[in-house]
Amino acid sequence: MTETTAQRQTMSRALVWRSLGMLRAVRGLVVVSFLLGVIASALPYISAAAFGPMMQVVADAGTHGTLSRVWDLKGPVLATDDDLIGSLAGPVVPFGVLLAAWAISLLLTQLMYFVNAWVSAKVDRMLVTDIRQRVHDHLQTLSLDFFTASRSGALMQRVLVESGGVQRLLTDCLMPPLIDALVLIAAICYLLAISWQMTIAALILTPLALISLRFAGRHVQAATRRLLNADRAMAAELEETVSGISEIQLFNAQSMRSRRFHEVSEEAAKSDASIVVWMQGTVNGSQVFVAVSTVVVLLVGIGFSASFGLTFAGLMVFTGMVPTMFGAAQRVLGAYTTYHAVAPNVASTYELLDTRPTVQDRSDAVALGDVNGHLVFEDVVFGYVPEQNVLDGLSFAIREGETVALVGGIGSGKSTVLNLVLRFLDPKQGRILLDGHDIAGVTMASLRDQASKLAQFPFFVKDTIRENIRLAKQDASDSDIEAACEEAHVHSVISDPSKMHDGYDTVVGVQVPSGGQKRLIAVARGLLRKPEVLLLDEPTENLDADQRARLTGVIRGYAQDRTCIVISHDMDFIAAVADRILVLEHGRIAQVGNHRTLMAEGGLYKRLYEAQNVDPDLVYPNPTDKNAQAVAPN
Ligand SMILES: Nc1ncnc2c1ncn2[C@@H]1O[C@H](COP(=O)(O)OP(=O)(O)OP(=O)(O)O)[C@@H](O)[C@H]1O
Ligand SMILES: [Mg+2]
Repeated sequence: MTETTAQRQTMSRALVWRSLGMLRAVRGLVVVSFLLGVIASALPYISAAAFGPMMQVVADAGTHGTLSRVWDLKGPVLATDDDLIGSLAGPVVPFGVLLAAWAISLLLTQLMYFVNAWVSAKVDRMLVTDIRQRVHDHLQTLSLDFFTASRSGALMQRVLVESGGVQRLLTDCLMPPLIDALVLIAAICYLLAISWQMTIAALILTPLALISLRFAGRHVQAATRRLLNADRAMAAELEETVSGISEIQLFNAQSMRSRRFHEVSEEAAKSDASIVVWMQGTVNGSQVFVAVSTVVVLLVGIGFSASFGLTFAGLMVFTGMVPTMFGAAQRVLGAYTTYHAVAPNVASTYELLDTRPTVQDRSDAVALGDVNGHLVFEDVVFGYVPEQNVLDGLSFAIREGETVALVGGIGSGKSTVLNLVLRFLDPKQGRILLDGHDIAGVTMASLRDQASKLAQFPFFVKDTIRENIRLAKQDASDSDIEAACEEAHVHSVISDPSKMHDGYDTVVGVQVPSGGQKRLIAVARGLLRKPEVLLLDEPTENLDADQRARLTGVIRGYAQDRTCIVISHDMDFIAAVADRILVLEHGRIAQVGNHRTLMAEGGLYKRLYEAQNVDPDLVYPNPTDKNAQAVAPN
């Protein structure tokens, strides 16, 4: 129990220290905001301190018959009869000065609060933008495995919403209570100078207030943790519904999705309500403490004023200061409750910032430079989970200028091989060499300058075709882009208004361009980089026979003096395009050869080829065929 409390305190300190480090970028504004805050918080005390003596002068004038005499009277600076201090601070200040001090401090309070709000808003915005950017940029450095293990909606929630917790911790939970605490200490010293007994009476209920606020803070923190998880789940469910809407509608699965969303949405609402109630409870509880403490001050002041040396002005000061002090104390403790509410968000943001990419450049990594594309796998072992290897001692070599096809059953590890070449993944054992350089020792950026991939599921942003192609080479000119499209045989399609209404400026959406057109655009994007090693994962998917024949020509032309690895279940395409075929089975190369030799050899390749090229009459017997009718059921 003690240990967990200690751990919690260490964690809290770590969160606070780390967050303070984030203030560096805005330290000038923070100092201004701090000073304005101190002035704004001190002014109400000055008006309360002036109000007591002012009322005493009014009361004195009243007892002498005419209130208008107040202008000739003077009041004390310090509302006390105490021998030493009282004699120092006798009736020395004219009523007009007291009135002016009271009124000006009231007006200035509001002005300072406004100016401070303006500066703080600027600090808030700068902090939140800075932190959000850091989290976003850090996310881009993480490895593929992090993203495959996360739900996109939940990640969006972490970047867009949770990162804001750091700013709230700094500007809502640290600065205001620090200011209030400083001013509060000064105010307590002032009150002690008037009457230490009355000061104790005013503060007697503070420990009770602290205990109850601590209790509420714990509940707020627990509810915030639940809200955090529910919000992430809700964002993830929504993202999945939006991206999978056509399947959901196709399978009439709306009610199932509805139920799932409702569950997390309800949990989020419950947790949110719980936070609101506990927060409101702390506000109302503090008001109760203000009221009770004021009553205590009045009763004690009236009962013991003589023995405490308390003047009328002093009593007025105390009754005026109790609400101001409790207001400040409430803000200090409210900040503590808010801290509990934002701490889970802050912790989650730092956890994300501390996540290291599993694939990183080595400290001694060098730039790869230009290569010819001689690729070697040496006994490569790789598994996504520790106990199961997808690739188990994979070895092969591809000469520069060679086009090699990787063939194998579904899930045999073909796409994994390409991801290892590009270092989206690192092997558990073994080496991958490009022109004799172990790719583990070169920088990932220089490696990816030399190798480009057409993914199995190409990605497009919601932007024009031109900009989607430019993603591969941000400094490419429009004519470079068009040349790449010519090379991929997709330029005529893009420039045909009947197919692409705005040509290169057509915005890529779900339906436009079509699946096949998108694939060719993705090929053009790959070619734009002029990679020495071209990796193609299922390039013929969604292509018609005509386009497929063209693509075969594109690859042959491009790969004449470059290395190319093609993955495809399209066996005719493989047979036509590949110089050599590697057959992947049980994590190793089971067969090597060209189409003719592999067909002659038999084995997995022959089985896959024949399964795809079965005579249709054998699979779907012609109903007029008497023999076939004889075996057909009924
Ligand atoms: N991120 C991952 N985490 C765990 N397992 C994975 C992950 N990615 C792939 N796998 C598994 O690793 C195996 C190889 O996957 P890979 O995508 O390389 O197969 P493939 O040969 O390209 O298959 P296909 O022909 O269907 O595209 C599969 O069983 C797959 O389920
Ligand atoms: Mg694959």
